[in-house]
Amino acid sequence: MYNLTDRNIILGVSGSIAAYKAADLASKLTQAGARLDVVLTPVAERFVTPLTFQSVTGRRAYVDMFDTASGASEQHVEMARRAHALLVAPATATTIARIALGLAEDMLSLTALATRAPIVICPAMDPHMYEHEATQGHLETLLSRGVHVVGPEVGRLASGHTGPGRMSDVDTIIGGLRYVLGRDGDLAAKKVVVSAGGTQEPIDPVRYVGNYSSGKMGYALAEAARDRGADVALVSGAVALPVPYAVRAVFVRSAAEMRDAVVVECADADALIMAAAVADYQPAEAIGQKMKRRRESFSLPLVRTPDILAEVGHRQGLVRVGFAAESEDLLANARHKLEEKGLEFIVANDVTADGCGFGSDTNKVTLIDRQGEEELTLMPKHDVAARVLDRVVTLVQAQGARK
Ligand code: CTP
Repeated sequence: MYNLTDRNIILGVSGSIAAYKAADLASKLTQAGARLDVVLTPVAERFVTPLTFQSVTGRRAYVDMFDTASGASEQHVEMARRAHALLVAPATATTIARIALGLAEDMLSLTALATRAPIVICPAMDPHMYEHEATQGHLETLLSRGVHVVGPEVGRLASGHTGPGRMSDVDTIIGGLRYVLGRDGDLAAKKVVVSAGGTQEPIDPVRYVGNYSSGKMGYALAEAARDRGADVALVSGAVALPVPYAVRAVFVRSAAEMRDAVVVECADADALIMAAAVADYQPAEAIGQKMKRRRESFSLPLVRTPDILAEVGHRQGLVRVGFAAESEDLLANARHKLEEKGLEFIVANDVTADGCGFGSDTNKVTLIDRQGEEELTLMPKHDVAARVLDRVVTLVQAQGARK
C-alpha cells in the first residue's frame, strides 16, 4: 500500500448514485494513512449516510454548515486551511457548477471556496448532463483555474443511457489524487524512464521464450516516480496490470523492441530504471509458420539478446539504475553488474527468497553503489520503490547541480 501518512485530505461527496463508491474510496484513503475529513452535500446524504463515512474514517463527517453543535461551522475554515487536497467524488453537475461559479451554498462548495489546496474533481452524471454546454463550460472554467479532472469514463449509467458520465474507478481516482499531490515534487520537470515486466522472444507466430516477471516492481517504481512529479515513460512487456495514472506506457514484446523504445525515451530523460526481466537469449530465427508437433524432439538455437543497460545511455546527465535478479551469490554478482554496466546503483534481489521475486507483492533488496551497500528489510514493493526513488532524486539533483 502506498503512503498518504500525514496528508490532510478532504473528500467531498455530492448527490449521485456513485456516492456509494465514495465509501470504498474513503476506506482506501484511510488505510493509506490519510487524515480524511468527509463533507457530504445534503443530496448526497440521501444516497449514503455520514455514519458510513464516520465508520470507515474514524472521524466526524460533515453535512450541515449551520450545525453549531457539531462545530462544523467553525471547523470548515480550519479544515480547508490545513488540507493538502480537496477531492470531490462523485462530483455532480450542480456541485461542479457551484464550485465553478464560487457559490458557497453548502458546506462542500463553501470548503472549495475557502481552500487554497489543489482540487480534484471526479464527475459522475448522466451523459446528457455531462455533455451539456453548461457543464462543459464549468469544467473548462475549473481546468483553467488548475483544478484537475479525473474521468468520467464512458459506460452504461444508472439512467440506462450509455456514454460519458460514469465516475472513474476508485484506484484511478486515487492515482489522480497522488498525481496532484506530487505534481510539484522533487522530480517535477524531470523525466524518468522505467522498464518493467518480462520480454517475450518469438519462436513462431504462437509461441515465445519468456519468464515469470509480473511487472509489479517496475509499475510500483513508475508510480513512485509519478508521485514525486516526474514525467514517467514506462516501457513495459506484456503484463496483467493497469497502466498507472498519468504515466505514459509504451508496450513492447521482445528485448530488441524494448531496446529501441528505451533508446528513444532516454534521449531526453534524466534517469533510467531498468526493472524489466529482459530475456538473455532469443531464438536465432523466428519461424514464419506455426511449428508442427511431428518431431519427437528438437533443439532450438538461441542467440544472445542486446544488453539494453550496457548499450543505452552512457550519456552525460542520465542516471542509470539496474536490478540484479540472482538466485545465488547475490552481492558479488550484483556488484559485478554494477561495474560491468557502469551504473549509479543497483538493486539486488534474491528471487528465490521467501516473499521475494516474480509475482510477489513484497521484496527484500539490497541497494549497492560504489560507496557500499544498504540492506533493506522485507517490505511491500511500493515501499521498495519509494526507497529507490529517494536515491534517484539525490542523484538527479546532483546531476542538475553539475550542469
Ligand atoms: N538487462 C538489460 N538487457 C539485458 C539483460 C538485462 O538491460 N539483455 C538489465 C536488467 O533490466 C537489469 C540488469 O540488466 O536491470 C541486470 O539484469 P539481470 O537479468 O539480473 O542480469 P544479466 O545482465 O542478464 O546477467 P545474468 O543473466 O548473467 O545474471
